[in-house]
Amino acid sequence: MEPTTNLSEPMDTQETLERLRADAPERIEQVDSVEALDELASELTGKRSPIAAGRRSLGSVPAEERRDLGRAINDVAVEVDALLADRRSVLEAAEAAEALASDRVDVTLPGRAPARGTTHVIQQVMDEIVDIFVAMGYTAASGPEVETEFYNFTALNFGAAHPSRFESDTLYLDYGDDPEGILLRTHTSPMQARYMEQHDPPVYLVVPGRVFRRDQLDPTHSPVFHQIEGLAVDTDITFGDLKGALAHFAHEFLGPDTRVKFIPHYFPFTEPSAEMHVFTNGRWMELLGCGMVNPAVFEAVGYDPDEVTGFAFGMGADRLAMVRHGVTDLRHLFDPDQRILEQYR
Ligand code: PHE
Repeated sequence: MEPTTNLSEPMDTQETLERLRADAPERIEQVDSVEALDELASELTGKRSPIAAGRRSLGSVPAEERRDLGRAINDVAVEVDALLADRRSVLEAAEAAEALASDRVDVTLPGRAPARGTTHVIQQVMDEIVDIFVAMGYTAASGPEVETEFYNFTALNFGAAHPSRFESDTLYLDYGDDPEGILLRTHTSPMQARYMEQHDPPVYLVVPGRVFRRDQLDPTHSPVFHQIEGLAVDTDITFGDLKGALAHFAHEFLGPDTRVKFIPHYFPFTEPSAEMHVFTNGRWMELLGCGMVNPAVFEAVGYDPDEVTGFAFGMGADRLAMVRHGVTDLRHLFDPDQRILEQYR
C-alpha cells in the first residue's frame, strides 16, 4: 500500500487529509493487536501525523480559507479517532478473552503429589523386630546414647582392664564428673542394668537403639550403628527358653523354615554365651549374640541370683537391613541421598 502521507512532497493539506480519510478504515481494520493499533494511532493522529501538520499550517493559511480548512481537519480527526476507538475495543476484548483462555486451570490434569518420606529401612527392620517380640509379650524401651562407663561396662561384669574399655575401641566424652567416665554407649546392653535397677522381675524387654564404636566407615563397619537388645528374667528361665524364643524370632523374621544353630561364645555379662547363626540366602550367617544372664549382673542391679534366672540377646539391625534388601555396602544405608534410599523401600 502507498504511504498515506509523504511529508517530503510539497503538501496540499486538503488532498493529504482526503487520502488519510480514504485509507484509514482499511488500515485500522487490518491491525491485529492493541500494540500495533497504538503505533498506527500515533501515525494517523499523533504529533507527526498529517492532521497535526495541517493544524500547524493553519496560521499561514489565508484567513478566509482558515475556517473551512480547520473544520475539515477536525472532521477527519474525529472520524479517524472514532474508527480507532472502535477497533481498540474489539482488539481489547479479543486479547482479554485470549488471556483468560490461556490462564484457565485445566481441572482434568492429574494433581501434583508432594514428595512423601518413608521410614528408613533400618528403622523398618528395627520396628519389625520389636513387633515380633512385643507379640511374645515383651515391652519396648529405649535408653540414653550417652552412657556412664559403669552401665556400659562395669555393671555388665566387664573387668577393669577389659580391652573394650580402651579409647581405641570406645568413644569417651569430656563431659560430666562421673568417676568412671562418660562415653557413647558401645551396645544397647547397658539398658539391661538400667531397667533391672528400676523394675522388679519378671522382665521381658526389648531395646532398639543407636550405638557407637571407634570404627572406620567401610562397606561393613560404621562408627554409628543400630542394635536391638533383649532381656527375659523370671523365676525359672532356662537355656531352652532362650533357644525357643530366639528360634521363634528367626522363623518370624526370616521365614518358618529357617534353620538356626547356637555356637558357644563369650560375653562378660552372660554365662553360658552363644551366637545364633541362621541359614539364609544359601549360607550360614551370624544373627545375634546371646546367653544366660551372668549372676554377677543380677548382683550389680540388686536381683537375687538364687531367685531369678534369665537370658539376654543383642543383634545388629543394620546388617539385617542389608540382608533383607540385598545391600552389599553399609554406607548406602547411611547415605542421605534420597535417590539411593528410595531403592530400598
Ligand atoms: N552386647 C553384645 C554386643 O554388642 C550382644 C549381646 C547382648 C550378647 C546380650 C549377649 C547378650 O555384641
